[in-house]
Amino acid sequence: MAEPFAELFKESEIFAYREVLSPHYVPDKLLFRDRQINEIEKALTPSLRGERGRNVFIYGKTGTGKTSSIKYVVERVRLLPVVKAKITYVNCRIYNSRYRVLSKIASDHIPMYAKRGLGIIDIYEKIISWMEEDNKILIVVLDELDIIRDLDDLVYTLTRANSDIKSGGITIIGVSNKLSFKEELDPRSLSTLYENEIAFPPYNSSELSAILNDRVVKGFRPGVVDQASINLASAIAAKESGDARLALKIITKAGEIAENRGGKSITVNDVGDAARIAEEEIAYEVIGTLPEHQRLIVYAIAVMSLTGGRYKKLDKQDDAFLLSGEIYDRYVSITQSLHKETKGARLYRRYVTDLQMQGIVTSYESGKGVRGHTRLVKLMYQPEKIKEMIEKSLFNTQPDEQNSGAESRPLHTDTTDAEGFQ
Ligand SMILES: Nc1ncnc2c1ncn2[C@@H]1O[C@H](COP(=O)(O)OP(=O)(O)OP(=O)(O)O)[C@@H](O)[C@H]1O
Ligand SMILES: [Mg+2]
Repeated sequence: MAEPFAELFKESEIFAYREVLSPHYVPDKLLFRDRQINEIEKALTPSLRGERGRNVFIYGKTGTGKTSSIKYVVERVRLLPVVKAKITYVNCRIYNSRYRVLSKIASDHIPMYAKRGLGIIDIYEKIISWMEEDNKILIVVLDELDIIRDLDDLVYTLTRANSDIKSGGITIIGVSNKLSFKEELDPRSLSTLYENEIAFPPYNSSELSAILNDRVVKGFRPGVVDQASINLASAIAAKESGDARLALKIITKAGEIAENRGGKSITVNDVGDAARIAEEEIAYEVIGTLPEHQRLIVYAIAVMSLTGGRYKKLDKQDDAFLLSGEIYDRYVSITQSLHKETKGARLYRRYVTDLQMQGIVTSYESGKGVRGHTRLVKLMYQPEKIKEMIEKSLFNTQPDEQNSGAESRPLHTDTTDAEGFQ
């Protein structure tokens, strides 16, 4: 009889050290980001000297090295023999409210801090008195801050802290990949957060090749990945989005495909197959984390791509472009049938731009052939799959939740988040 779990302990002939290929791995050296890292460090210099610095806003598409670069800077700051400047890195996917962010700051720095039972005002006061002890400077990194649901309140509270404390102060580093996010902010938060802006551009194909080469050397066994495969994965990722995470995912998936067919090395065919799978998976992840109304818009587009829009009929084209106005109408009827709030047309257009930035749809302005100037929009992924996936997320409730109204309750409720803290 075969050894139990023999597969589990068999050494891979393809991978040497899979961890290196994970998107969470922070590489020792970050290529092509010296300028951005320098700018972040320059902006933080006053804080490190014990003065309040200027806030920084970091933006760029997904997979352009924002989190990796800021984590690199955070580590460097932690190593400095400066006691007054303290830094907190907050992943806002986890700490997604003002209450949670303040708790995270307190639990990172205040000895004996026990979160249980404390209201937001208590936490705020603890942070203030901890900072006042010796005029501390606090640097708060808010990674993916667009996810914070009461961001304006948080920004207001942190700004307010700056005027409440007698000396020292708080510097905010915001990080986001939502490019239209700026327009949704309250003007006060906007002027606070955007004192300095640092852009992270997408990587081109040769930059992605260099990034991949570094990882492949450590992640794969020698001779498994040739330069042609690396170049192909990089070219595909550069064409798609300039996203280093996608490039890594493609090459890792290609390794899995080679392993499953019992091959000893990756072929360019494996890379092609891997690219299709990786792109689809990424789309699902992105759609899974979209805010509700953007997801409903994607749903409307998927449904209409299957049934066919008016434009397709007018133009007798087999192309999957739809009229933006038609999509909006469908979105409105979907929100109505789900008894949800309907966002206005202006916001809708901004959401479509966002979806385009994330590579979920593509769109162009058309004058000819169609009445006036209209925008035509097309889904970049298979509509059947996207429709099915969104339906699951929209309508799948547990049997015991069905009549309790649980689906309309927000996902997380911080009962301790006191009202009226302004
Ligand atoms: N310049 C680089 N050098 C080496 N690796 C990189 C570089 N940029 C990105 N990576 C790798 O690509 C992956 C994604 O990078 P990262 O998480 O920093 O992107 P991001 O800009 O924060 O994306 P998102 O907006 O989706 O959060 C990580 O595995 C990271 O190690
Ligand atoms: Mg990130």
